[in-house]
Amino acid sequence: MPPRGEGRGRLFDVPIALQMRKVAATIPGGFEPNYVDVPWLFSIAITQLLNVRKNQMTETRIGYSTSQIALHWIIAALVLFQLFFGESMTTVVDAAEDGAAVSSADQALGSAHYWIGISTLALVLIRLLMRVVSGAPEPAESGPGWMRIAARGSHGLFYLLLLLTPIVGLLAFYIGDPWGDIHSLNKPVFVVLISVHAVAALFHQYWLRDGTLKRMLSPGR
Ligand code: HEM
Ligand code: HEM
Repeated sequence: MPPRGEGRGRLFDVPIALQMRKVAATIPGGFEPNYVDVPWLFSIAITQLLNVRKNQMTETRIGYSTSQIALHWIIAALVLFQLFFGESMTTVVDAAEDGAAVSSADQALGSAHYWIGISTLALVLIRLLMRVVSGAPEPAESGPGWMRIAARGSHGLFYLLLLLTPIVGLLAFYIGDPWGDIHSLNKPVFVVLISVHAVAALFHQYWLRDGTLKRMLSPGR
């Protein structure tokens, strides 16, 4: 395996600017940047991204990067905040429908719910992009085969929920029911999934002793 930083698929191994200069050299009369060039500039960027991914697929990741770990815990904290204090948003929405007053605490928590929910969506999109570009380690080999299937399935379900919940939340806020009722269903689903996920992480770390929790705490290649 090549040493870290050498021959590894990284986003800027072949700088996009270098490629652009090569392409520009083939244009008669020189290269004047123009908005009509955006599609092919975009296609070069996408090709670069896919090349990097292809290089990385040949190499097995054994750990998460520092940014992936940071995003995991930041998003987990934001989701827990939403689950603990989400009912204030329900109170605000119900009071607006009935023309009733709300306490200043509910008002502040409702507003926080809005902005934290949108921030969570943005961070999840960044996290997914990062996962596509730099990959993620395979689930630990320690347990039976069904455990690896369950790990992959539950992680996929997490990503789906992390995307759909804020989107449906926006629909609930701007359109109302039935989106409000659908959005509220996220709470029990998240609570079950997070509980199983946390117990599984602890079981892997302290019973199977395969370092699963540790790799979400300290970065590895
Ligand atoms: C990961 C992100 C989110 C989570 C985990 C979440 C969670 C929750 C929870 C637990 C409730 C309370 C449900 C109840 O009363 O039983 C709620 C209500 C609500 N949330 Fe979110 N939320 C998220 C994002 C958002 C976003 C981005 C918006 C819109 C900007 C939003 C708008 C609402 C609305 C309008 C309600 C009241 C629904 C109703 O009862 O009509 N949420 N949310
Ligand atoms: C709202 C709370 C949480 C959410 C939404 C969440 C979400 C996720 C997701 C989507 C992954 C897959 C990462 C990937 O491969 O791309 C993951 C991995 C992981 N999570 Fe969480 N998580 C939460 C809370 C927790 C807690 C409380 C713990 C520890 C007790 C934990 C421990 C782990 C570990 C150890 C992994 C790595 C699993 C592996 O490498 O196979 N998570 N989490």
